Amino acid sequence: MIITGKYPQLRLRRNRKREWSRRLTSENNLSVNDLILPIFIIDGKNKKIPVKTMPGIYRYSLDKLNSVVERAIDLGIPMIALFPYTKNNLRNSLGSESLNPNNLVCRACKQIKKKFKNNIGIMCDVALDPYTSHGHDGLLVRGDVENDETVKLLIEQSLIQASAGCDVLAPSDMMDGRVGKIRNALDKNNFKNVQILSYAVKYASSYYGPFRDAVGSKNLLRGDKKTYQMDFKNSDESLREVTLDIKEGADMIIVKPGLPYLDIIQKLKNNFKIPIIAYQVSGEYTMICDSIKKKIVKKDIIIETLTSFKRSGANAIITYFADKIAKNL
Ligand code: PBG
Repeated sequence: MIITGKYPQLRLRRNRKREWSRRLTSENNLSVNDLILPIFIIDGKNKKIPVKTMPGIYRYSLDKLNSVVERAIDLGIPMIALFPYTKNNLRNSLGSESLNPNNLVCRACKQIKKKFKNNIGIMCDVALDPYTSHGHDGLLVRGDVENDETVKLLIEQSLIQASAGCDVLAPSDMMDGRVGKIRNALDKNNFKNVQILSYAVKYASSYYGPFRDAVGSKNLLRGDKKTYQMDFKNSDESLREVTLDIKEGADMIIVKPGLPYLDIIQKLKNNFKIPIIAYQVSGEYTMICDSIKKKIVKKDIIIETLTSFKRSGANAIITYFADKIAKNL
């Protein structure tokens, strides 16, 4: 970088002096187009159940879902992400409910597509953890998640969700080779326009606690997810994960969690020209809410934090704040 001139001729405070000038010279601006809203759904009627670990977040039954989606559309949010809460009686070791074409998530997709057409994108996770009795993202064989057998199920789950009207499939399971296999299956089955947003760089993180509570897998998970999700000590490995997913046909990639991994987002942005989505996960959300509630920090921390994702190179952000801050942008 070339710096010309020096103090006192050069005064960087001049550009900051007036509000209009700060606006004029701003480098990164968050807009509503950058936001993806996660929505938790639950079986039943007339339900709006608070998620205890996530202030201001609810699980909605499908009869309540349309008004949530309508509000997101009115706010200009481009995409929602649907996450089903599954009761224990619908869970088993194989996660079979994931392959039920009439499961909660599929019914939600059909309902939203019917009512709102293409006025908002629908993203769905591809992974077994909402449906397994052990809380893992895949099939357990002798205590470990079996890669290739799991991928076979993820392909089926992808096709079922695509048939239901899901626009963007987001494999969040971290199995090897699943993006390519899912892409092939989609192409063969007339879903060549269904996008794949790969959770390419997903760390085995302690920040997911409140989410697991929200989807009902918190008390079920046996052990941890370290044999498939990435080790937080690693950075170069993210380049390998993304290289493979791009080769296999991913349209966009996710880095997750968000704030503790801004270095990874920046590194990927410098190395690949593919849309990068940051996921500000449940633990990050709850920590920010708690600090605001305790008056340790001001509410402004939300926009500041979300803008840091843009600065580091993210194209968009999955955030539980999406509908709450859209109007302030
Ligand atoms: C499921 C999944 C998880 C999250 C999104 N999809 C949890 C996990 O992998 O255990 C976490 C999201 C959040 O914490 O907000 N595979």
